[in-house]
Amino acid sequence: MAILPIIETPDPRLRVISKPVGTFDAELKTLVADMFETMYDAPGIGLAAIQVGVAKRILVIDLQEPDPDDEEGKKVIREPRVFINPVFSDESEEHSVYQEGCLSVPEQYADVTRPAEVTVDWQDEDGKHHQERMTGLMATCIQHEHDHLEGILFIDHLSRLKREMVLKKLAKLRKAA
Ligand code: NI
Repeated sequence: MAILPIIETPDPRLRVISKPVGTFDAELKTLVADMFETMYDAPGIGLAAIQVGVAKRILVIDLQEPDPDDEEGKKVIREPRVFINPVFSDESEEHSVYQEGCLSVPEQYADVTRPAEVTVDWQDEDGKHHQERMTGLMATCIQHEHDHLEGILFIDHLSRLKREMVLKKLAKLRKAA
């Protein structure tokens, strides 16, 4: 496995529309494993293949929610999930707001409104089809990651003023680094 470099805005590759995966081979499994390692290392809860420069419709997600049995509240439960060629339907009319961040827009966070629930059809690493109704943080996270496949970043959902503020803060952060 390998930790891959994460590309950041304004890299034009983040605006590319990713292509469907048609071959479910060992190379795909290696890429998925590398994406998980990269995501955990960052650390983050989701990563799209284009964020490591691969324009394929592949998402990895692990919400890493706190372990309820850990009294100190430090441990998390790992539940790695991979979504290949995800397709959405039946978005709920009800919306929810989460403070989102993105490994390609480092250390910047802003509230984004999205449908609270969505049904997702996808394939796993072996090409097998699945469907599930996503709710809560998973619904938000998978919509954020799916946006990457369409060349969309979470900052595109903000008002122009708010987006410019985020980008200004990011430029300042980079200058300081
Ligand atoms: Ni992102």
